Amino acid sequence: MRDTEQFAKQIAGKLLDEPAAGEDSRRLHLPDTPSEVPRPLIEMHDIHKSYYIGKPNELEILHGISLQVFPGEFVAIVGESGSGKSTLMNIIGVLDKPTSGQYTLDGVDIHNAADNELAAIRNRKIGFVFQTYNLIGRQSALKNVELPMLYAGVPGGERTRRAKEWLTRVGMAERMKHQPNELSGGQKQRVAIARAMVNEPALILADEPTGALDSETSRIVMDLFHEMHEKYHKTIVLITHNPQLAEECQRVLTLRDGRIVGERRGSGKRAAL
Ligand SMILES: Nc1ncnc2c1ncn2[C@@H]1O[C@H](COP(=O)(O)OP(=O)(O)O)[C@@H](O)[C@H]1O
Ligand SMILES: [Mg+2]
Repeated sequence: MRDTEQFAKQIAGKLLDEPAAGEDSRRLHLPDTPSEVPRPLIEMHDIHKSYYIGKPNELEILHGISLQVFPGEFVAIVGESGSGKSTLMNIIGVLDKPTSGQYTLDGVDIHNAADNELAAIRNRKIGFVFQTYNLIGRQSALKNVELPMLYAGVPGGERTRRAKEWLTRVGMAERMKHQPNELSGGQKQRVAIARAMVNEPALILADEPTGALDSETSRIVMDLFHEMHEKYHKTIVLITHNPQLAEECQRVLTLRDGRIVGERRGSGKRAAL
């Protein structure tokens, strides 16, 4: 945890445009108190998740997860298949509720939020990217990217303008009219990233986004996540099986059997895949 606090302070320093340690930071006289640390975007305490697989069998999958993610962080979650990564991600993304524990997302206690509030949080604050893209078939890339804005009540013309803008940013300007079955895996994932970004959410959650892609395409998709982080200052939580990709993130959390068993810094260096 100590590592997390130091990291949070470092991030706080970044947000304040504080120069790296040296005489300049002394000149700024920034007090080194916890109040300097920004509020976490994700704050979880002792989260448990159980599934009821027919009475009386209760199967606990997450055994007390405590986690903080600060604005602007790029965090990787790694762990073997079945370790609970997707279960945790679904709770982070308020797609699912924990059985017990506290979870605050961007200052909102999700336990006290009504279902319509949770839907609004998902729509406005979070962009999702999945391994299997989850695009709507028989709808063009453009329509797919417009959809979250439709739910958010953005007017038609504005929806199309913004969808085109994001599709262009992810390199899909030439294929906006194509339907998912006319696109390669990498192209579909680019559309999914545009869709995740189009409501300008604070948080991007990606569950094995390169899991179905070859290494060259994985590199392109991962570079897009770096761009969303660096250029658009998104907070990103990325689940990956690929240790090289995890290493590119700022912080790497390891999940084993429903517990966080490791937390370390990533190198931040991009790998040649
Ligand atoms: N709806 C469910 N009902 C019962 N068990 C589930 C359900 N969803 C996931 N699980 C179980 O929870 C464990 C963790 O799954 P998951 O979070 O998908 O792991 P990971 O994403 O790390 O591979 C697995 O053993 C899985 O079988
Ligand atoms: Mg999974």
